[in-house]
Amino acid sequence: MINYAENVYVFDHPLIKHKITMLRDKSTGTNEFRSIVEELGMLMGYEALSDLKIKYVDVETPIAKCKAPILDGRKLAIVPILRAGLGMVSGLTALVPTAKIGHIGMYRDEDTLEPHEYFCKLPNPIEERVILVVDPMLATGGSATDAINLVKSRGGIKIKFLAIIGCPEGIEKLHSMHPDIQIYIGIVDEKLNEKGYIVPGLGDAGDRIFGTK
Ligand code: PRP
Ligand code: URA
Repeated sequence: MINYAENVYVFDHPLIKHKITMLRDKSTGTNEFRSIVEELGMLMGYEALSDLKIKYVDVETPIAKCKAPILDGRKLAIVPILRAGLGMVSGLTALVPTAKIGHIGMYRDEDTLEPHEYFCKLPNPIEERVILVVDPMLATGGSATDAINLVKSRGGIKIKFLAIIGCPEGIEKLHSMHPDIQIYIGIVDEKLNEKGYIVPGLGDAGDRIFGTK
């Protein structure tokens, strides 16, 4: 992983690069797109969760008794930003089946690009958990920044953010507003266009995952 800035990490793995290229391709259909987003949730989550806490339990192997580490999985909350973040959840719960799931509903106004919150339900007690907020796209950074504001206002402390594609504008905004959180990005694209889409990006992640438009 490349250390892009303090607390900002960009993936540098050929599998992740390959799968993101498949997502970009406009001929990739909904079914395949959804599967790849799920796979990327798992591959990227594996790295982003490499500092998860473990606890020791007693285990008896066929040879001897020992104390062995297991994940303290109930301490993890996965929080997708709706809608597109939902596509990454199954890949992440495959890694940590005991994680709790929260939801933050956020949509971007197409004209102003301002995010609007329409739903928030987080598992309690949130302050004790590692909270992994996920969304495939970090564009202007407005949605992610507001989502993290919301998590913090409900008591969240140990927060990570995971996106598949980001751009310099979005990373700068999220990092400057929340320098304390760890940000993980699959790949950093060139820029935003005048409509707030990432270039070259992959288009509208929600529409491509859910087959809407
Ligand atoms: C997309 C995406 C992010 C947001 C990123 O969601 O999934 O949540 O845009 O843009 P930003 O960084 O400029 O805020 P959208 O608002 O299109 O909602 P959807 O997932 O329901 O389609
Ligand atoms: N949201 C998306 O789904 N795609 C973009 O390129 C920007 C915001």
